[in-house]
Amino acid sequence: MSDGDVPDQDDHRSERLEHRWAAVSTSIIALLIVVALFAGVHQAVLPQSRVETVDPRTLHLRGEFIESNLGSARQPDGSVLVRAIGQQYSFTPQCILVPTDTPITFRVTSADVVHGFLITGTSINLMLVPGYISNISARFSTPGERLMPCHEFCGFGHEGMWGRIKVIDKAEFERLAAETRRLSCVAQ
Ligand code: CUA
Repeated sequence: MSDGDVPDQDDHRSERLEHRWAAVSTSIIALLIVVALFAGVHQAVLPQSRVETVDPRTLHLRGEFIESNLGSARQPDGSVLVRAIGQQYSFTPQCILVPTDTPITFRVTSADVVHGFLITGTSINLMLVPGYISNISARFSTPGERLMPCHEFCGFGHEGMWGRIKVIDKAEFERLAAETRRLSCVAQ
């Protein structure tokens, strides 16, 4: 704006305009910083409600992951809750039994190191981190058997860490659930 050919008045006008734009762009940047700070602080103050912790050392002794509590259980609202554990180098239960056309919630954790929980042919894919409970909801429309490989390298036996999930007809599941509190297909 210091071009000698431009008259003084124009020079002043463009300088004012430039200041105004500088102020506008500075306040946009300031606003973005405030929004980012607010979002960051807000999230830190209110952690995600889904983060649940569990002590991996006492998993087998007390709490919801004791052995008698693992497997599939029919809930009062008709849904099914599946609890499972991953450990070097297997899943408990080794075979998970679930019904078709039913809302299913998986609650899975690890007893030792990081494992993966994946059901082939579905979008179910979790990381099992010791100390944390991984949650996911699912619904299976067709009966059948699917594989459940561990997909996080967890040691020398990782390659052999496989589970299975068996989806059976809802009526058949109801019949079995009436007899047993916790279901799995380990013996089947
Ligand atoms: Cu468990 Cu890989």
